[in-house]
Amino acid sequence: MEIDVFTLFPEWFDWFESQRHVRNALGQGHRLEYVNYRDHTPLSGGQVDDTPFGGGAGMVLRVDVVEAAMRARYGQDPTALRTQRRVVALTPGGRILDDDLVEELAAEPALTLLCGRYEGFDERILEHLASDRLSIGRYVLAGGELAAMVVCDAVLRKQPGALGHEESAVEESFSRALGGLPEYPHYTRPADYRGWPVPDVLLSGHHANIRSWRLEQSRLRGEREASTPEEPPARGSLP
Ligand code: 6GU
Repeated sequence: MEIDVFTLFPEWFDWFESQRHVRNALGQGHRLEYVNYRDHTPLSGGQVDDTPFGGGAGMVLRVDVVEAAMRARYGQDPTALRTQRRVVALTPGGRILDDDLVEELAAEPALTLLCGRYEGFDERILEHLASDRLSIGRYVLAGGELAAMVVCDAVLRKQPGALGHEESAVEESFSRALGGLPEYPHYTRPADYRGWPVPDVLLSGHHANIRSWRLEQSRLRGEREASTPEEPPARGSLP
């Protein structure tokens, strides 16, 4: 798939691209490219944002700047583009990212991710230039870049071959293979550590029993998650 990230900080993604599963995906022909709004602004001095009408704190990303950057990239009116490809604006008020949305986006041949900064987007960007609004949770980040990396990470690791092991992404937490439940617990050596043993069934070599134990654990975790949130261990006074 092809992903274009529109951002004022393309260099932030250097670190992101250094990760193995991302490099694997890119090595297999998936593409991740960046468009810097500032390179296409029609305004003087590289201006991309402006003060909000009606007053208030912060700056707002301008609609004319985003349109110019999209036209430069795609050579067409962005209001038409959004009917042909998912143009996802990253904004805290958007649809919350979950495994279903990741699967949906991972199946697209092409994605455009629009990062906002400052107080966010001029509303007309969301209304007329984007096809989707996406949030990674109910809290506010200083900009969409970290959210874009979250989306790229989640979507690229779903691509066949991005993880060394083909099975890895199929039966993981919240996947269809686990009926949307969290993943079962994993253990590795040592089999006993400080008297904390690995469950016997996992050492038994009995694959059918291991399988049913794992599914049961997933189910139990799902139930626990649905009820009360887990209390952290009690703390003494902090140093
Ligand atoms: Cl997508 N953007 C920003 N700025 N904050 C967020 C977010 C996105 N998702 C959660 N918080």
